[in-house]
Amino acid sequence: MKNNIPGWMSEAELEVLNRIGLTLPVGSTVLEIGSFLGRSAFTWSLSLFDQIGSVICVDPWEGTIADFPEGAVAAMDGDTEFLDHTLSLYKHFLINTRELDNVFAIRLPGQEFHWIMTPTIAPPAVIFIDGDHSPNGLLFDLEASLPNQQYGAHDMTLICGHDYGHPDIPHIKPIVDGFAIRNGFRVQHFEDTRLFALRWGNRYENFIEHLSQ
Ligand SMILES: C[S@@+](CC[C@H](N)C(=O)[O-])C[C@H]1O[C@@H](n2cnc3c(N)ncnc32)[C@H](O)[C@@H]1O
Repeated sequence: MKNNIPGWMSEAELEVLNRIGLTLPVGSTVLEIGSFLGRSAFTWSLSLFDQIGSVICVDPWEGTIADFPEGAVAAMDGDTEFLDHTLSLYKHFLINTRELDNVFAIRLPGQEFHWIMTPTIAPPAVIFIDGDHSPNGLLFDLEASLPNQQYGAHDMTLICGHDYGHPDIPHIKPIVDGFAIRNGFRVQHFEDTRLFALRWGNRYENFIEHLSQ
């Protein structure tokens, strides 16, 4: 099934999400912070389908497409002709994901969400961060994704996210890098994408990598 949902994730980025999803064990859950119209959620959903996995989407879905700058809307990938500029983002998301029975929407900002609000007992296998891109918002999501914190992660949860190295949001990379160094992660930057994943690594290795960037 082709992903026609409008959004700012490129085909190459969706392919990385798909590859990660396909490797997850049976019954895995992906927690997505920031789902917009459902473009990345759609890919996670299909990638988890065979393993009977699910996607929990957390987003306040405030406003409509008309609230976004024209240039940003024009830059979206997907079938933008289906965009209704007056329909709320939330209704768009519900319509776009209506055929995906493993997608669950929780209409809250990440700050107000806690993993115990989900219909899932097991910790999330993946936390995908693409929500509040402000410095404090991003830092909140990263910290809430550490083991035993608000987003329900355990030691094996993969933390990943979008817009790493995005020229229009230059604070994302140093915030992710700093968080990684402080918490003993190595940052993996997927080629030809703005996706990052945090891998457990030793602090010395991180420091050297940081110096060479
Ligand atoms: C860049 S879009 C997400 C794109 C989406 N992943 C996709 O594939 O199209 C950012 C989203 O984050 C949401 N958002 C903003 N603040 C948030 C918060 N505090 N917690 C969760 N989501 C938030 C916005 O409503 C918006 O839908």
